[in-house]
Amino acid sequence: MNLIGQPVDRIDGLLKVTGEARYAAEFPEARLAHAVLVTSTIARGTIASIDASSAQAVPGVLLVMTYQNAPRLPNGGRPTLAPPAGRRLSLLQDNEVHYSNEPVAVVVADTLEHATDAARQLRVVYQSSAASVDFAQAKPNAHAPDRPQGRQTDTQRGSFEDGMQSGTVHVNATYTTPIEHHNPMEPHATMARWDGPHLTLYDSTQGVSSAAQAVAKVFGIPPGDVRVISPFIGGGFGCKGSSWSHVSLCAMAAKQTGRPVRLVLERPQMFGPVGARPRTEQHFTIAARQDGTLTAMRHDSFSNTSTIEDWTETCCMVTRMLYTVPNQVTTHRIVPLNLGTPTFMRAPGETTGSFALESAMDELAAALKMDPLALRLKNYAEADPQENKPWSGKSLRECYQIGAQKFGWSRRTAAPRSMRDGRTLIGMGMATATYPANRSEASAIARILPDGTAMVASGTQDIGTGTYTVMTQVAADALGFTPEKIHFALGDSTLPRAPVSGGSQSAASVSPAVREAASQARSQLIALALADPASPVHGIARDDITVDNGWVVSRTQPARRDPAAAIIARSGGRPIEATSTVKPGDEKQKYSFHSFGAVFVEVHVDAELGTIRVPRVVAVYDVGRVLNQKTARSQLMGGIVWGVGAALQEESSLDTRYGRFTNANLAEYHVPVNADIGSLDITFIDRPDPYINSLGVRGIGEIGITGVPAAIANAVYHATGVRVRDLPVTLDKVMGGTMV
Ligand code: MOS
Repeated sequence: MNLIGQPVDRIDGLLKVTGEARYAAEFPEARLAHAVLVTSTIARGTIASIDASSAQAVPGVLLVMTYQNAPRLPNGGRPTLAPPAGRRLSLLQDNEVHYSNEPVAVVVADTLEHATDAARQLRVVYQSSAASVDFAQAKPNAHAPDRPQGRQTDTQRGSFEDGMQSGTVHVNATYTTPIEHHNPMEPHATMARWDGPHLTLYDSTQGVSSAAQAVAKVFGIPPGDVRVISPFIGGGFGCKGSSWSHVSLCAMAAKQTGRPVRLVLERPQMFGPVGARPRTEQHFTIAARQDGTLTAMRHDSFSNTSTIEDWTETCCMVTRMLYTVPNQVTTHRIVPLNLGTPTFMRAPGETTGSFALESAMDELAAALKMDPLALRLKNYAEADPQENKPWSGKSLRECYQIGAQKFGWSRRTAAPRSMRDGRTLIGMGMATATYPANRSEASAIARILPDGTAMVASGTQDIGTGTYTVMTQVAADALGFTPEKIHFALGDSTLPRAPVSGGSQSAASVSPAVREAASQARSQLIALALADPASPVHGIARDDITVDNGWVVSRTQPARRDPAAAIIARSGGRPIEATSTVKPGDEKQKYSFHSFGAVFVEVHVDAELGTIRVPRVVAVYDVGRVLNQKTARSQLMGGIVWGVGAALQEESSLDTRYGRFTNANLAEYHVPVNADIGSLDITFIDRPDPYINSLGVRGIGEIGITGVPAAIANAVYHATGVRVRDLPVTLDKVMGGTMV
């Protein structure tokens, strides 16, 4: 494998920086009409009346679609599919309001300006009823979810009570994390066009196939009648893993108006109807012996859901697998609120769960007067302690060692507030990163064309991660072609099916399918050449043949070679084609698949102002084989940057009087800018996972954010002596906190 791992530049980079890359809202369409979504201003109740007269009077208005005139959908617009494809949508089938910012109308006009004007003039009168939006107040109503995302709701191993008694040092703490909203630069956007019974959607989605399936279910039409096209996506992060209400609403509007319709969510509409990371409250009880050996651990996680879906932030997943604690209880409970349903948001459960777990481990280390890294090594899990299975591969010890060495962890003095430079308090913190290595069935096609180039395709997505680039590398490598001769296509539900780009599974699922299809096409090309008496390689033993730079060539007599175009031309000029579907076998029964990492962080805290800076992060990851050093590093950088934001800035601020978010815009929803980010030193162990797939590749989209918030909170504790257990760690919490 020559090309695998190479830091190949993004093949779509030039298209993106020159504006040539076409996003969902940018496809030109004759007779295009523009839709604007109108959302509720109350958190719970019913629509009492609607006055659309002023809206209808705006020039160019084509449709004001409300529950009064929207087309009736099969099953009341509530198709039964499991998330991510199936969500409980708001499709104007009744007058109920379940949360603020819920879709209540769609206004369509000839221009975006007319539609926007008309949407503002629509008068909706509500009958409000008491809404439940306060997490603390509603917490007594918490209930157990039913196998959240297919995982066990609660777990128990050993005897927690016995473990508590064998431990001499205890930690008992509660950690909280706020509601956060995905805000990719490109908001959700859809363009819908009906051609008779056939619906085409240009949609910004993480899953073209699952989106097609979801919309087909909504309309009760065959999945083959819906085509979803999504060649470029301006970020997804989980919110675009589900097909939310606006997608089907756009298709409904297109049907009603008889015109293609475009619908782009306004930035404030990103805060409600398209998912969020829920609020979490996590209770930890830990017991350990004086030497650091964990004897008992209990993790009770509460998170909010909506009143219309049970969604669970699976915070305990990390706790179950990361350390060899013999006696453990974990529980998940959910608190229904009148808010939009939460959803997958980059490392859902692992981001929030690792903040609590890795903060608690730091608190335990402090209580034991033990080095935080030594405490992790003391309880290093040589096998998955919950599943009782060996790891498919785990090089976490190396991650710790290399990270500590590169960071200079040995320079850290143990006591909090012991490192200082003038009025700058210096803190060093660390945490473990982990994320499961997921994989699903995927298909691909490889076609060697008469001109000697190849078309390789899979119905996967590039959500900004580099799928185009790494799949081109995999295809080129397997074919024996140069990357320039490969055209890789994705983002179309008519292509061979691939899973949703979520759960960090695309690279691990799609690359083996691409590799297999390309290898088969390569074999066919070789067979064709060897069988052809006119070929310069005719008669050469198969073992002596390879494909290099698009030529079928003898390894031992390189002068005997035959280019793909000539081989195809002599055989009748038809393309060579191979398709492949690959799926996981029984390896998940035998092994536990996870990626791991170690994150080391330095923070500078102004002793008088409490301001926190993160001058450097050193992180080392075991993510299996790295397909492209450059795009992989970019993924991990993005994850770490988000981790810095989650640690220090990010929070959707809820006005509990109205159930509305007060910072529903990019000015007040704080995320890091370049000036907030210091040096990011990222290292890969780059060791193929022997069991996950033919390439040894695990996904890398999500692990980067995990561990970072805890490492920063731990570093802030080390700098200041103040333990902040509530994200984000802001200066008021540092200055107002007590030293522990
Ligand atoms: Mo990821 S949160 O599964 O898109």
